[in-house]
Amino acid sequence: MAAEAARESHFEDYVVRTRKLTRIYQMGDTVLRALDGVDLDIKRGEYISIMGPSGSGKSTLFNMVGGLDKPTEGTVFINETDMAQLDAAELAWIRCRTVGYIFQTFNLIPVMTALENITLPMVFAGMSTDEQLQRGRALLERVGLGDRLHHRPSELSGGQQQRVAIARALANDPDIILADEPTANLDLRTGKEIIELLREMNEERGVTVISATHDLHMIDISDRIVWVRDGAIEKIEDRASIELTVGQVDWEEESGQAEESE
Ligand SMILES: Nc1ncnc2c1ncn2[C@@H]1O[C@H](COP(=O)(O)OP(=O)(O)OP(=O)(O)O)[C@@H](O)[C@H]1O
Ligand SMILES: [Mg+2]
Repeated sequence: MAAEAARESHFEDYVVRTRKLTRIYQMGDTVLRALDGVDLDIKRGEYISIMGPSGSGKSTLFNMVGGLDKPTEGTVFINETDMAQLDAAELAWIRCRTVGYIFQTFNLIPVMTALENITLPMVFAGMSTDEQLQRGRALLERVGLGDRLHHRPSELSGGQQQRVAIARALANDPDIILADEPTANLDLRTGKEIIELLREMNEERGVTVISATHDLHMIDISDRIVWVRDGAIEKIEDRASIELTVGQVDWEEESGQAEESE
């Protein structure tokens, strides 16, 4: 009995696992291995940063994990479910309920207010109107936009739009937030605020955050950093080694290198 429980809790520890994950793009005669056999285990509640040069495969990895694109070879498990075994309706359910997405360009719906943008995923999830409004308001308040409920994206700053996007990603209480370069279009200070907010959400709600980034400020708040290069994992650093890297980053920042990606 105890052994069985231990085995179950072992399995439940992983919210994402990839095995030999490979995505090949064929462009005419050229074959590009954008992802090449990636094995990655992510524990529930972790804050993971995926770092690597432009073109290294970060967004490709995201699209596979988020069920937005299919691997050429290999497997993605979300909560131990093999994504390839799901039919269209089950996949749509995971995209709506299990994963929240945050993009570099915010991707809010321009004609909708902040509150409407946040309640839209709740509509898809079949939540009652009362609950949508109550939850939507609470989320906007939590991200510091309680006084911007009825503003449209064009009436909000970039940082505010990204806060709305964070609230929207949390709309259906997902297990995972996938954030693809969430600070790339923000100034340094606003970017830091967004990173801190993501970390707070991770700690308060236990939501696993997986963030692709060039932003070296992500380093010191992450539980682990996955460095990718040419579609493969180059190394994985955990907290202890991250502290060393932060020292280097401070130096790079002083010499004006921190904002450069490659
Ligand atoms: N739809 C596609 N068709 C063909 N090649 C693609 C496609 N999408 C991505 N690639 C290629 O796959 C490789 C990985 O791209 P990807 O977008 O994952 O990189 P990235 O690490 O996210 O880069 P960046 O930091 O610039 O966002 C690149 O060489 C890219 O040109
Ligand atoms: Mg990318």
